[in-house]
Amino acid sequence: MSKKEKIILDVDTGHDDAIAVLVAAKAEKIDLRGITVVSGNQTLPKTLKNTLSICDFAKIDAPVYAGMDRPLVREQVTAPDIHGESGLGGPTFPAPAKTAEDKQAVDFIIEEALNSEGELILVPTGPLTNIATAFNLKPKIKEKIKKIVLMGGAYGLGNITPSAEFNIYVDPEAAQVVFDSQIPLVMTGLDLTHQAKATQKIINRISELDNRIADLSVELIEFFRQTYKNTFGFDSPPLHDPCAVAKVIDEDVFSTKEMRVDIELNSQLNRGRTVCDFYNRTKKEPNAEVAINLNKEKFWNIVIKSLSKY
Ligand code: BDR
Ligand code: CA
Repeated sequence: MSKKEKIILDVDTGHDDAIAVLVAAKAEKIDLRGITVVSGNQTLPKTLKNTLSICDFAKIDAPVYAGMDRPLVREQVTAPDIHGESGLGGPTFPAPAKTAEDKQAVDFIIEEALNSEGELILVPTGPLTNIATAFNLKPKIKEKIKKIVLMGGAYGLGNITPSAEFNIYVDPEAAQVVFDSQIPLVMTGLDLTHQAKATQKIINRISELDNRIADLSVELIEFFRQTYKNTFGFDSPPLHDPCAVAKVIDEDVFSTKEMRVDIELNSQLNRGRTVCDFYNRTKKEPNAEVAINLNKEKFWNIVIKSLSKY
């Protein structure tokens, strides 16, 4: 088997982050060095508790680190309409026995990058506050990071506003730091993740696995289905965050196009928009591989393969 990829998964655990954690933890291709948590879908105490609950319930032993509890400069924005008041509406968990490590997530990211000999991949699936803070505190770690594969942004429509995707909207200044980092970067935006809808057929395939984590995943997807139906009128909910994890597992799971991406920081209407130079009109150096087309068969096989291992 090919070499495992060392990753840090940086999450704001809501429903799709939870499934991203479950998929990453059992992927043969991944060496999950740690899970860092940020505020986003809910406040940090809630996203941390959700992450610990998932790891506890699924017996995932990767260390969990609490990170930043608010965006770099903006007021906090959360998503109770999508993920519920707890950030992980639907299933109930016993109080997690697992606890967060003492080290701050940002310190862990810095240390791990410095020790990784250029092999570390960052996989952020929430607002980019932890990652940007690490880069701001220790700029030299940027040379040590192999790649960033993030979920966020869109070259088309937004989801928190008509223009902007949630993760980037919540902390646009942090996003600009990350897109300016000159680290090879894959932007897994809504244009791609909306191709990853968990249809009834997919839910049935997961149910048939017949293990407690597959059952938990179905429960999470069912809650998500309801909020996506209410908010967006979608029949099936898109599993955004597992798409970024899947890209680390199999490079061919989706196609990308190289382009320059900048973040709108000043406008009222377009705050947090990922301005993607799809047609290279600015002639600026590209800074991102933007996700375009999902190979759905590969994607669901990756998700289901990991879930079958519980
Ligand atoms: C992103 O926002 C969150 O609600 C999801 O977890 C995902 O990371 C999609 O816009
Ligand atoms: Ca997320």
